[in-house]
Amino acid sequence: MSRPGSSDEPSRSARAEGFPLSLGDQLVANGCVTPRQLDLALQRQRAGTGGTHEAHLVGRTLVEMGCITQSALLQCLYHQFALERDAYTVDETVRPVIRMERVVKILDNRRVLDAVDLSIPANRVTAIIGMSGGGKSVTLKHMVGLMKPDQGTVWVGEEALGRLSSRELTRVRGRFSLLFQGGALFDSMNVFDNVAFPLREKTGLAEAEIRLRVMRCLEEVNLVGMERKYPDELSGGMMKRAALARALVTNPEILLLDEPTAGLDPIIENAIHYLICDTFMRTRYTMVVISHAVPEIFNWCHHVIVLHRGKVLFSGPSREVVTSRDPVIRQFIRGDLDGPIQVI
Ligand SMILES: Nc1ncnc2c1ncn2[C@@H]1O[C@H](COP(=O)(O)OP(=O)(O)OP(=O)(O)O)[C@@H](O)[C@H]1O
Ligand SMILES: [Mg+2]
Repeated sequence: MSRPGSSDEPSRSARAEGFPLSLGDQLVANGCVTPRQLDLALQRQRAGTGGTHEAHLVGRTLVEMGCITQSALLQCLYHQFALERDAYTVDETVRPVIRMERVVKILDNRRVLDAVDLSIPANRVTAIIGMSGGGKSVTLKHMVGLMKPDQGTVWVGEEALGRLSSRELTRVRGRFSLLFQGGALFDSMNVFDNVAFPLREKTGLAEAEIRLRVMRCLEEVNLVGMERKYPDELSGGMMKRAALARALVTNPEILLLDEPTAGLDPIIENAIHYLICDTFMRTRYTMVVISHAVPEIFNWCHHVIVLHRGKVLFSGPSREVVTSRDPVIRQFIRGDLDGPIQVI
């Protein structure tokens, strides 16, 4: 599977206005499969699930039926995503789902967040980038209420987190999944139990239902067959995929991913980006991805926020960040040693 922008992308026949077509209709509109193949796949899903067919998994069924390869499917989904990404603008149709207003956080006498104002658009992919130690992970922890601001307000929808009781905060947190920096799988549990963990902790579901959901998630991240393996038997990329499955298993409305590709080789990094794109195109969850994969990450998100020394330097469509004239942003994107940021 090649990197985005390489020559073997499918022809650009579909238009971004196609959204919100169903996933299957998008694949047909893109010329990835024929309407007949889609019908057969949906029929097969209905037969296999007793009528409750899962449209978001239709791509998997098309692959199983041999109508399209896994790699071509991911390329098709990426192509559709790229059309949407390029058409994305911040206007009144974009609803913010998380807002931070003048948030200040002081840690060890340092103003780690210095009056941060930001909005995360609903049902889009937002990347947060910036120098190490710039406050990205701390920002993410504020969004989910794991850290409380010293000043300012964090809003999730219409709810100000600081005004909620602990019970209400738990309910709001139920809308989120957070993939921590480093993945943080439990070493003593195999892949199945790691992914099942949030369901066993947070829901009263029966084991049979838990098994169904875990296996479905492992299928979504292509880890079927690995469920009995322990973390130390997995490669770095498999660990990230298992952690992603654990984040997805609760069907979160908002998915926060803290450096999902850190420490991976470029091929696995590319594969994880495709997987995140695939997940977004199937589920339309709001996603926030902290990443050091600059400039690659700009291909994979609608919106970019640049955090620097506790302040938001840029917030806008990903295609605009690359043309920013801010000297700090330019230096960061190019990785230059010369510029306003002195590292040596
Ligand atoms: N719990 C804490 N107690 C004290 N200081 C903290 C705590 N958490 C973070 N910090 C400090 O806050 C600053 C920002 O940390 P943060 O983890 O948000 O950086 P980051 O932008 O995510 O960096 P990286 O890209 O390296 O992950 C750092 O100086 C860090 O040492
Ligand atoms: Mg961090």
